[in-house]
Amino acid sequence: MKFPNDFLWGAASAAYQVEGAYNEDGKGLSIWDEFSQIKGKTKHNTNGKVAVDFYHHYQEDIKLMAEMGLKAYRFSISWSRILPNGEGEINQAGLDFYERVIDELLKNDIEPIVTLYHWDLPEKLQTKYGGWENRKLVDLFVEYCRILFEKFGAKIKYWVTFNEQNVFTSLGYRWASHPPNVSDTKRMFQANHVVNLANAKVIQLFHKLVPNEKIGPSFGYGEVYPLTSSPADVLAAVNANQFNNDWWLDVYCRGYYPEKILRLLKKLHLDFEITAEDLKVLKAGKPDFLGINYYHGGTVKAPDFEKVKNQKDFDKTDPYLMAADKQAASPESYLFESVENPYLDKTNWGWEIDPIGFRIALRQVYEKYQLPIMITENGLGAFDKLEDGKINDQYRIDYLNDHLVQVGKAIADGVPVLGFCAWSFTDLLSWLNGYDKRYGFVYIDRDDYSAENLTRIKKQSFYWYQKIIESNGGKLEVK
Ligand code: BG6
Repeated sequence: MKFPNDFLWGAASAAYQVEGAYNEDGKGLSIWDEFSQIKGKTKHNTNGKVAVDFYHHYQEDIKLMAEMGLKAYRFSISWSRILPNGEGEINQAGLDFYERVIDELLKNDIEPIVTLYHWDLPEKLQTKYGGWENRKLVDLFVEYCRILFEKFGAKIKYWVTFNEQNVFTSLGYRWASHPPNVSDTKRMFQANHVVNLANAKVIQLFHKLVPNEKIGPSFGYGEVYPLTSSPADVLAAVNANQFNNDWWLDVYCRGYYPEKILRLLKKLHLDFEITAEDLKVLKAGKPDFLGINYYHGGTVKAPDFEKVKNQKDFDKTDPYLMAADKQAASPESYLFESVENPYLDKTNWGWEIDPIGFRIALRQVYEKYQLPIMITENGLGAFDKLEDGKINDQYRIDYLNDHLVQVGKAIADGVPVLGFCAWSFTDLLSWLNGYDKRYGFVYIDRDDYSAENLTRIKKQSFYWYQKIIESNGGKLEVK
């Protein structure tokens, strides 16, 4: 397998999932600090108060990264550590913390890749302005990022604007399983549009302030397949790709929404305000690269129009039911129906395992948008067992090996891939699944109930990735 000489072999994390120290040194609360207090929202009511305490262990963790030979580390900055109220006064201790982390990485020849927003909005911005539904957030996000660009612009080459906008807007505003705990499809599309504007405006500012470095969003991409070659199923897959992927990527890269989906939203009264000025902003905020998080895609068949018909009757009786839990207007039901893929195995959490889908995804995204791609996440969540002080996670090695082989093939196909950030370096908090859905190369001795030890233990996969990095991918096993 041939990888470019400067390929960034990396790993990734997010502030809320690793840092802990949720109220230390002047940090304000985030919407996740609040949301995780609501009973039943997260597994065993787990939260990020301590997480894996990267805040106090960062030197030890970066030492392990250096030992592994890691070339890049992607982490996010917590907005409320920099601006406890989301706006106004800067918390110097917060800036200092990230400066120490960045300097420690650079000292060890590890490229820092900074995510500006990985879901932990300052709580104050939610309560005071209503969060991302308010256009005011666009300017506040730009101001927060300005501080970081001015402070760290000279040290950081790769910046990520938003992590998985598709995930946090859907789970936060449509399915009420993330903050702000809303279940209203119309509000989701409105909030999503505001985030698009924030993304585009921040990119414009970045290009002005840090013209020589690179910025882009990280998108949770999954290719959608048709269940059969029946043209109706193929059309359903086209619909699903437009609804799940192009809906975001077209806006990032081309500055407009896919027409078919816009029309459907209008028909369902789920449309939102787009001004002429908005369109200009979106067009002017083109990223320099695309971050792709890849876990799995999906499979669909043609929707059952009988069901849709019934749903319509239902709508007529109460057109405002959209705001209720049982949502009346589901755009999907007009476009596709999700089904199991009979060819793919699944993880313990029911996520399909599809390495070839990764190659397909990279090819599709590149040929469509012609931007270099940074793989900002990919990895396996699994139950790991600590036995005689060791963790033999061969399943993770197999998973990563097979996915990296497909990355290598995509590169051979002509896709410019800048790097690969495995999710994750150490174990960390899974937003909804607590601490035993583990992703790391380094085991952290804690569970859902106790964070007393936090000892770091290298897993089998640590040594494997070390070998892969050292051989620049040469030791990957092509099966
Ligand atoms: C991505 C997120 O959606 O998937 C990460 O960017 C997250 O923050 C990862 O942890 C894995 O998801 P989960 O639900 O298994 O923790």
